Amino acid sequence: MAAPEYVLGYSEQEQKRLMKQASILRGWTERFFRAAGLAKGMRVLDLGCGMGDVSLLAADMVGPAGEVLGVDRDAAALGLARERAAQNGCAGYISFQQNNLEEIRPGELFDAVVGRYVLLYQADPAATLRHVASMVRPGGRLIFHELDFGTVVPPWPEAPLWMEVYSIMSEAFRRGGNPPDFGRRLARTFLDAGLPWPTIQAEIPVGGEPGSYVYGWVADTVRSLIPRIEQLGLSTAAELQIETLAARMEAEAVALGAQLIGPTQFGAWVVKP
Ligand SMILES: C[S@@+](CC[C@H](N)C(=O)[O-])C[C@H]1O[C@@H](n2cnc3c(N)ncnc32)[C@H](O)[C@@H]1O
Repeated sequence: MAAPEYVLGYSEQEQKRLMKQASILRGWTERFFRAAGLAKGMRVLDLGCGMGDVSLLAADMVGPAGEVLGVDRDAAALGLARERAAQNGCAGYISFQQNNLEEIRPGELFDAVVGRYVLLYQADPAATLRHVASMVRPGGRLIFHELDFGTVVPPWPEAPLWMEVYSIMSEAFRRGGNPPDFGRRLARTFLDAGLPWPTIQAEIPVGGEPGSYVYGWVADTVRSLIPRIEQLGLSTAAELQIETLAARMEAEAVALGAQLIGPTQFGAWVVKP
């Protein structure tokens, strides 16, 4: 099965968006990693590392006695990830490799394989998981942070612009072949990969207040999705008035006092038998 074309693209704006998004997600990812037992001294493989944010977080957690390898197919992102590792003083124990996930063949086994927002982009996520599970030592961990934005939870009072934009975002993923509700499929995916039922935790972002991060997060994501949205005939940059989208979603929610429910964040992990 061929992987669908990568829906968010590889633009400079997408690189910046990934780093902004990473600062929103870091606390949740860290909690999932801690609960899953990521600890000092471990050797970690980060799948689809992009700009390196999860690799950098893992490096903070494993420390200089540990080791992190980030893998992504995007050479430009990896160049920036290397610079960031040097700036953070952890270049000695992080390395990055340009590769497709299905082609990784490391020599040694890892204590943990981790990934954030990566399984949903695979043509066959269970096959990817099965492949990478073979790189984890028995007693090691597989830990994934994925999301579910497949269905808009109507805010109360209802906020029509938020609901429309959220639905377009979700539809652009669905019709492009990437399940926006992948977070809900984690248990089944682990089982299909031949792994035990994972421990799963969830966190839900909530916004609506003045200055909330959710407006910029959604508007930036929609901006990266514009080529796909236009190609699918879901809307256009002009119709969405992309330049003012974040401000208009904020004005709407604040005027209504609407509590906005964002994408559910799922952490799922197993200890490899
Ligand atoms: C949404 S980004 C997430 C980046 C990073 N994990 C984070 O949370 O900041 C997904 C990344 O996975 C990479 N990716 C997806 N499928 C891949 C594959 N089959 N092989 C290599 N890289 C892949 C993309 O290039 C992209 O950088």
